[in-house]
Amino acid sequence: MRKRIVAGNWKMNKTYEEALTLVSEIDNMVKDEVTGDVTVIVAPPFPFLQSVGKLTQGNDLMHLAAQNVSEHESGAYTGEVSATMLKSVGAEYVIIGHSERRMYHHEDAQTLYKKLKATIAQGLKPIFCCGEPLEERDAENHFEYVGKQLHDSLSYLSNEEFDQVVVAYEPIWAIGTGRTASSQQAQEMHAYIREQLSRMFDAEAAFNTSILYGGSCNPGNAKELFSQEDVDGGLIGGASLKSRDFADIIKSF
Ligand code: PGA
Repeated sequence: MRKRIVAGNWKMNKTYEEALTLVSEIDNMVKDEVTGDVTVIVAPPFPFLQSVGKLTQGNDLMHLAAQNVSEHESGAYTGEVSATMLKSVGAEYVIIGHSERRMYHHEDAQTLYKKLKATIAQGLKPIFCCGEPLEERDAENHFEYVGKQLHDSLSYLSNEEFDQVVVAYEPIWAIGTGRTASSQQAQEMHAYIREQLSRMFDAEAAFNTSILYGGSCNPGNAKELFSQEDVDGGLIGGASLKSRDFADIIKSF
């Protein structure tokens, strides 16, 4: 059975106090208002993981994610954070391959593969991001582009490893721009992703993989997006920083 997931990627936003306020507001809204079967994930910046995690641990619906992880296990890697460390403070998920990390931190397919391995080895679940830039969409090359991203980082995983993976499709032209993919554009890409996954792994695993949409998702468009057959939820940036908006998106299922 595919999990329905709404994950909030806070990126590099909020102070410590603000982060605690945000998560406790979300926690209360989720407890009071969310009745459906949905997994809620929050991904705060590294320094707030442990404190935010204390709140999410008290709520069965809520889970903790990190925004990044080192591909290394431990050692002399100044500034890096390992999967073991993330696990030890209560993280269950790790966002891997976000377009901002690919772009600003030059993370390539091989690095992302190593991060996937390191994450899964610690029993954490990767949220693997893919998505095309505008010029690839305009050139009608978006399927090939995303297919290659999936193949280049995921295809070397075993079926058992792949079972842990959540995929997020985030067209770069829709991230933080206010320009959302139409529900039809999202559905056709999600169906394509699922088909590609079924070629790399067993068909049942591909069928059961949650594929999230990300890119200017908000309370006004979430219902339409989430109603698509192959859209199993969202990875939310800007709108996850406001508790009311985030809770309304969660309730869009
Ligand atoms: P956005 O970001 O919702 O602000 O467009 C989504 C993301 O980058 O995960």
